[in-house]
Amino acid sequence: MQVLAQLSTILCCPKCEGDLTTTQDMMICRRCSQSFRIMKDIPLLFWPNEWEPNKTDVTDLVKSFYEKTPFPNYDDCDSAGSLMQKAERSGLVKLLGEQIPLGTRILEVGCGTGQLTNFLGILNRTVIGTDICLNSLRLGHDFKMKNSIAGSHFVQMNLFRPVFKPESFDLVYCTGVLHHTGDAFGGFQSIARLVRPNGYIVIGLYHRFGRLLNDLRRWIFTLTGNRGTFLDPTLRASRGLGSAQREAWFADQYKHPHETKHTISEVLVWFERTGFSFVKSVPKTRPFSGFSANERLFSPEPPGGRIERRLVEFGMTFTASKEGGYFIVLGKRRATRNDS
Ligand SMILES: C[S@@+](CC[C@H](N)C(=O)[O-])C[C@H]1O[C@@H](n2cnc3c(N)ncnc32)[C@H](O)[C@@H]1O
Ligand SMILES: [Zn+2]
Repeated sequence: MQVLAQLSTILCCPKCEGDLTTTQDMMICRRCSQSFRIMKDIPLLFWPNEWEPNKTDVTDLVKSFYEKTPFPNYDDCDSAGSLMQKAERSGLVKLLGEQIPLGTRILEVGCGTGQLTNFLGILNRTVIGTDICLNSLRLGHDFKMKNSIAGSHFVQMNLFRPVFKPESFDLVYCTGVLHHTGDAFGGFQSIARLVRPNGYIVIGLYHRFGRLLNDLRRWIFTLTGNRGTFLDPTLRASRGLGSAQREAWFADQYKHPHETKHTISEVLVWFERTGFSFVKSVPKTRPFSGFSANERLFSPEPPGGRIERRLVEFGMTFTASKEGGYFIVLGKRRATRNDS
């Protein structure tokens, strides 16, 4: 409850953007009177899209997919310590943990079972993990409670109907999510508004070329009745993963009902249209320029020329597939906004 009181200054109604009043187990909009339940510390603030009928909305489809197989899930023996060890092995997450200043307010959009939210929460950042999938949020919240992680919090939210006031966050992190929605750029615009001027956004998306080998494997698994899972580099390399995590990875990679693919150049256009500047990407946009262990994440780099980017992106066909074929771009919101 104390946490909800802290959040109340930035929360708003997903239906009308009015202010919310919090009671013991409810949130009520002061403007439209819509009420929302709070279930075991998780405010259920999901609101549907209400798009025009000719725009494809996959939210319900994707939600029920993840309610069945929450992603990435936890091992039975996962603990705060093992979460830290896994983060050590994942270059970008480790760097985020080291370089995001203390006191930063972070929103994770589409947090799944909340590994990053809890990891940064352990490191004393205030992190709010949001997702449409309640089963995932529950797993993230249970992990937080079991490990007494004070900094992480979980809220059910549809990213197209944000439950936070504009410019509420220093950093918005959203990886592996927008490509599972009916409108990736629309989703980006929706969450970009939540970043304060001079704040940062981190976006991770499936790559058009990086995903080609995955497509080939999906086709093989469909033909062989899911035989030969050793063909997947992640499953091959992580025999130590628990069965729930292996199952979640396989379903997410090969059985997903909806995914789209993107490029770094495309995200640069998104940035331009929403008032963000390019800071960095994984992979880097210049051929042969690797990501070092001591990379200064928030030091801006030039985005490279179109041909350089094309070369890097073609290379992703062979290099990116082992981690699901996606790329990450970090952007900084300009002090003045030029939304299109
Ligand atoms: C592949 S998982 C990624 C989880 C986590 N970000 C990670 O990288 O491990 C995609 C997540 O996006 C969530 N998601 C999909 N559409 C969403 C929407 N409209 N609003 C909020 N979350 C959504 C799903 O429920 C799911 O948990
Ligand atoms: Zn309202």
